[in-house]
Amino acid sequence: MSNLFYPNKEKFKAPLIKNMCEYKDLVDEFAKDYEGTWAKFADMKIDWFEKYHTILDESNAPFYKWFVGGKLNVAYQCVDRHLKTKKNKAAIIFEGDNGDQKILTYRELAYEVSKTANMLRNQFDIKKGDRVVIYMPMIPEAAVCMLACAKIGAIHSVVFGGFSAEALKDRIIDAEAKLVITSDGAYRKGKPYMLKPVVDEALKEGCECVKKVCIVERNGETIEWVAGRDYSYNELVKNESSFCESEIMESEDPLFLLYTSGSTGKPKGVQHSSAGYILWAQMTMEWVFDIKDNDTYWCTADVGWITGHTYIVYGPLAAGATTVMFEGVPTFPDAGRCWKMVEEYKINQFYTAPTAIRLLHKTGEHEPAKYDLSSLRVLGTVGEPIDPAAWSWYYNAIGGGKCSIVDTYWQTETGGHIISPLPAATPIKPSCATFPLPGIVAEIIDEAGNPTPIGEKGFMCVTKPWPSMIRNIWGDGDRFVKSYFGDCKKDGKPVYFTGDGAMIDEDGYITITGRTDDVINVSGHRMGTAEVESAIKKHSNVAAVAVVGKPHAIKGEGIFAYVVLKGEDTVTEEMQMVQEINSIIKKEIGAIALCDDVVFVPDLPKTRSGKIMRRILRAIAKGEPITQDTSTLEDPSIVGKIESIVNSCAL
Ligand code: WTA
Repeated sequence: MSNLFYPNKEKFKAPLIKNMCEYKDLVDEFAKDYEGTWAKFADMKIDWFEKYHTILDESNAPFYKWFVGGKLNVAYQCVDRHLKTKKNKAAIIFEGDNGDQKILTYRELAYEVSKTANMLRNQFDIKKGDRVVIYMPMIPEAAVCMLACAKIGAIHSVVFGGFSAEALKDRIIDAEAKLVITSDGAYRKGKPYMLKPVVDEALKEGCECVKKVCIVERNGETIEWVAGRDYSYNELVKNESSFCESEIMESEDPLFLLYTSGSTGKPKGVQHSSAGYILWAQMTMEWVFDIKDNDTYWCTADVGWITGHTYIVYGPLAAGATTVMFEGVPTFPDAGRCWKMVEEYKINQFYTAPTAIRLLHKTGEHEPAKYDLSSLRVLGTVGEPIDPAAWSWYYNAIGGGKCSIVDTYWQTETGGHIISPLPAATPIKPSCATFPLPGIVAEIIDEAGNPTPIGEKGFMCVTKPWPSMIRNIWGDGDRFVKSYFGDCKKDGKPVYFTGDGAMIDEDGYITITGRTDDVINVSGHRMGTAEVESAIKKHSNVAAVAVVGKPHAIKGEGIFAYVVLKGEDTVTEEMQMVQEINSIIKKEIGAIALCDDVVFVPDLPKTRSGKIMRRILRAIAKGEPITQDTSTLEDPSIVGKIESIVNSCAL
């Protein structure tokens, strides 16, 4: 096997999974007794209030149930249970954009979570099963509020702070949230920015379900208060008791909803369970990051995404680790910010997205050399494929050629990693997610369920249910079944399809080749083409639109829109149209969905039945030759016309 990078023995003194033999033993153990092995880990890892009676209930597949009859509380698992042995250990280290610093020990975190949980119960009448939307910046209170919901059995739905009022409103309405927790705002690149006005805008109409808004103070800027609706978190929480009884939850009680983009329609509320989710969050945290008691771990994601849920809050805390929360951006005040923080906090595991690595490589190639990065042991990547150039810079300039890079492949729906190297065991091939984690039966198959030959693309599926998998799409069981279990079968039975393509090589290594559907991956963030298209269609002069992804040097993929106008427009008007289109997108979704390219075309390539041939549009955007048969199009000549428009724009 060529081009393999072996774990550095000096860095990994006593890892949890030491070598590939141990990895294979674990895989075998699951193969011999799948449910029994999961039960073994559930017994070992979870502090049950009452033991489950059934490991896996498949009677209503694909609505699988795990650890049925078990009783637990996820906040107890993440915080309270550690008070016995880790009460004075740092649980959360916060660094603000402006350099503010705050450390919460497990004891302090327990107090804060309890006070907040009491506040939710006493002041806002939040009960088990109620939905609470959290629209907050990267401050410790965001984690505290998530855990406080878990403590009393409320279902949180965190909405990324970069989403617009419209997007927030959609999510509030879909979840029928009773309460919104937000902050006045926060800091970004040295300047305050606001969140509360976005909530005000979102709540203007249609959100009658929301009774109250709770506001955490972060930047102290002036905000408008709506009497009888808006309450200060800081004022309310200080009067609450720091002791709160944990709600006793069933294994399958929903822990949270997290909205994510699919190939069609509006974002879906991915629903996760309590026991299965927390079990895998904790196990993967320990296996994939090789967390040791004295380590300081930093994941740069935002709590608004699944990576923030599982690998800033739930995974690290369930594992009793110290997790860093950073409010700022990696390039402020300069491209050395992250490396300065690694040196100052002596970070042992650093976890980020390839987009950030590419950006820091481009804007600050020589920055890492200014800092002592020797504390690092594991470097993680997530969200998109990492290209060889970024991988090599990460490995050498950041890891000093000694750290293991874990290219973790997973999704909002999988709850935690499903394919990833184990840092002390797996010989790594750059830009390769390597092998399924023990317990995950990930297979690359064709539609009929046959394994695809070596080197050929197939569908990335998980062919057995696993504890941390998505349980449902909030309020839409049909869509859940159709979205994930409608495409692939194995032995005649529908299996979970990720929506990604993948390939296996002659050594069994898995490479993810990207989405097979109409989901675009912008800076590691999932964006549905349907969402962007429906925003653009709101422009009164747009007759039709098709959006595709186009490779982008930093963002991985950028958004490329083909727009058909209603009127006859001149080029100057088109420039104005681009601005107008982008401002609609900003209003409807948020700045993360802005188009990198907008081209105006006379029509879209459609089949005679009216289906837009996106593959052709993707090829044109990428500047690739068209390999599809265009003779079946309603108007085959449109392809050449679009090509020449795109080519002339590129000049
Ligand atoms: C992509 C993020 C290649 C993939 C955790 C998936 C990846 C989508 C990787 C999920 C990786 C995630 N290599 N592609 N290591 N990790 N993806 O739900 O297309 O925001 O389906 O979850 O990101 O995005 P999501």
